[in-house]
Amino acid sequence: MTQRVIVCGGAGYVGSHAARALAGAGYLPVVVDSLSGGHADAVRWGPLEQLDIRKTAALADVMLAHAPVAVLHFAASIEVGIGEREPLAFYDNNVAGTISVLAAMKQAGVGRLVFSSTCAVYGAAAPPLTEEMPHRPGSVYGRTKSMVETIIADTARVQGLKAACLRYFNAAGAAPDGLTGERHDPETHLIPLALAAAAGRGQGLNVFGTDYDTPDGTALRDYVHVCDLADAHVAAVRWLEDAEAGAHAFNLGTGEPLSVLQVMAAVQRATGLAVPHTLGPRRPGDVPVLTADTSKARTVLGFAPRLSDIDTIVRTAWAFHRRQWGL
Ligand SMILES: NC(=O)c1ccc[n+]([C@@H]2O[C@H](COP(=O)([O-])OP(=O)(O)OC[C@H]3O[C@@H](n4cnc5c(N)ncnc54)[C@H](O)[C@@H]3O)[C@@H](O)[C@H]2O)c1
Repeated sequence: MTQRVIVCGGAGYVGSHAARALAGAGYLPVVVDSLSGGHADAVRWGPLEQLDIRKTAALADVMLAHAPVAVLHFAASIEVGIGEREPLAFYDNNVAGTISVLAAMKQAGVGRLVFSSTCAVYGAAAPPLTEEMPHRPGSVYGRTKSMVETIIADTARVQGLKAACLRYFNAAGAAPDGLTGERHDPETHLIPLALAAAAGRGQGLNVFGTDYDTPDGTALRDYVHVCDLADAHVAAVRWLEDAEAGAHAFNLGTGEPLSVLQVMAAVQRATGLAVPHTLGPRRPGDVPVLTADTSKARTVLGFAPRLSDIDTIVRTAWAFHRRQWGL
């Protein structure tokens, strides 16, 4: 019988690509999503259970009905600025939400968890960032993810849970066939915003900070293609089967950071259009460089990004957005 995997947040950006990768690897992804931020039409590779993960009893019923081999947990509030303004809502969704997922897994006897964590747990630590570095999150969002990692580790210790906390750097790009891509509301990520600016949608791109100690003065980030992230989830599900109980952290990036101006140049190459922009001051809380040491994921999970060069990332994102925007 086809093995099932519960994908909490599978109607969202990264989760929908992971569901597709699971299906490609022979699993049936069962998406649990409230559709608070995701899209029903992004659920194409298995059933959708429309449900808030904080409804523990209903979530446990879904798990009992499907008897999954693992849970992938993407469901969260993700917009950093909103977290600063509404911390209680963020802690409720991200921390209480994960406690509910863990409780439901316990009730249903599910032993493997892959959790969407983030490089935001490192805060302003000096790069390259390794998994052993202490957490110093500089935002409510980062603190929710750091707390959840602690909760997962404590739960794993007593419950025998096997968990992978995948710390993504900057997820970007779209499926090469254009079926799925990034659709956040509000959108705060650089590549979709730069593409929108190039397409003449909105007010143009704001470049936050031009006086960082970086080669061109703008901030450096580590962009990783969403399909490479998706593949890493499948690898984690498989690796966890024989792993020791506990919470295992993995960075997922490329280790080759790019500046805002380099990304804008890639957008111009992909679209043939200039990116209207305004150069402005630094944004509070932003750090100059975020880049991953990915050696652990490469060695242990066999993580080998295939699509994470910036031209492929931007080309696939542009194809997706053109279709969305009717261009
Ligand atoms: N996108 C990135 O660059 C990035 C980077 C690092 C980490 N992450 C993490 O990856 C995960 C997925 O990010 P994304 O960009 O796909 O976000 P997204 O908003 O596109 O997807 C999140 C999904 O979770 C669902 N959801 C939220 N709260 C829920 C709840 N209480 N019950 C049920 N469903 C709920 C939303 O409807 C949405 O479909 C998040 O946990 C995020 O923190 C993302």
